[in-house]
Amino acid sequence: MALDPQTMASAWTPAVRARTDEDALDDADLRKLLAMVREHTGIAMTERKRSLLQGRLRPRMRALSIPTYADYLRRVESQPGEVPYFIDLVTTNETAFFRTPRVWAYFGDHFLPEWQAAHPRETLQVWSAAASSGEESYSVAMLADGLRLAHPSFDYRIFGTDICSTVVASARAGRYQGRSIEQLVASRPDLIARYFCAEEGGWRVTTDLRSRVQVECHNLMQPLARGRQFDIVFLRNVLIYFDAPTQQRIVANICGAMKPGALLVLGESESLQRFDTGLKFEQPLFYRKAAGNDGA
Ligand SMILES: C[S@@+](CC[C@H](N)C(=O)[O-])C[C@H]1O[C@@H](n2cnc3c(N)ncnc32)[C@H](O)[C@@H]1O
Repeated sequence: MALDPQTMASAWTPAVRARTDEDALDDADLRKLLAMVREHTGIAMTERKRSLLQGRLRPRMRALSIPTYADYLRRVESQPGEVPYFIDLVTTNETAFFRTPRVWAYFGDHFLPEWQAAHPRETLQVWSAAASSGEESYSVAMLADGLRLAHPSFDYRIFGTDICSTVVASARAGRYQGRSIEQLVASRPDLIARYFCAEEGGWRVTTDLRSRVQVECHNLMQPLARGRQFDIVFLRNVLIYFDAPTQQRIVANICGAMKPGALLVLGESESLQRFDTGLKFEQPLFYRKAAGNDGA
């Protein structure tokens, strides 16, 4: 039976392409790439991430008409303007409104009212560190604003940061569509009615709520500018990307920005058990800095 050349082409081309592409990121370039990921973000990736990295870098290389990974890595090294694009490509930004419900139950039902009772004339300062596209920062804001409506003397400010400039821009804009906001529409129509405006294709956080949330680019590998001190820091689902010494360094940076007695909130797969941080386990995922210890 004669083979149809067209069928052969479509049957064989993807396999041939895949092999060529795989070959293109050779072991030496892969090691260089992993070292650059670590240098710019602190993230520890292993060689098993080869295809993930290829899939993420390829569209950017195509857009720049850069034929090989080696050429692209040289570009990142030689042109500082490419670094933010590189960081955007190698970070994973998965997030959701009210991710991990038990965290929000504790924050809303215990932390907020207890903090407000203990600090009647202060403004609550919250840091949502590695906040991705802002769902976490606005989850904090919606609960804190609920308390403000009940107690008008209560005030709060939220600082959202991430290393990835694309998600920082999204968080600032406060525009959402897709699964996460649809789940919120279904589960909390009251919050949607109060804190979102319908826009074509999605929802936008109200100007008033956005004014409470300041969003900036920040690399957790660096300490925050001196002087900023927070009552609670959300550092969730990001420590998992770093090796133990880097986790320790990041937690030390975070502790330096926590007020005495402040809380640190981690993600479900994260813990401080192995580290000497000066933070005490309070309840699952919540750690408290000792009152009177300034972490300096
Ligand atoms: C999986 S998301 C978690 C988002 C959110 N905290 C949550 O729990 O839903 C991890 C975020 O950490 C950010 N990230 C990774 N390395 C970082 C670093 N060195 N400094 C700051 N943010 C970083 C990524 O850009 C990404 O948006």
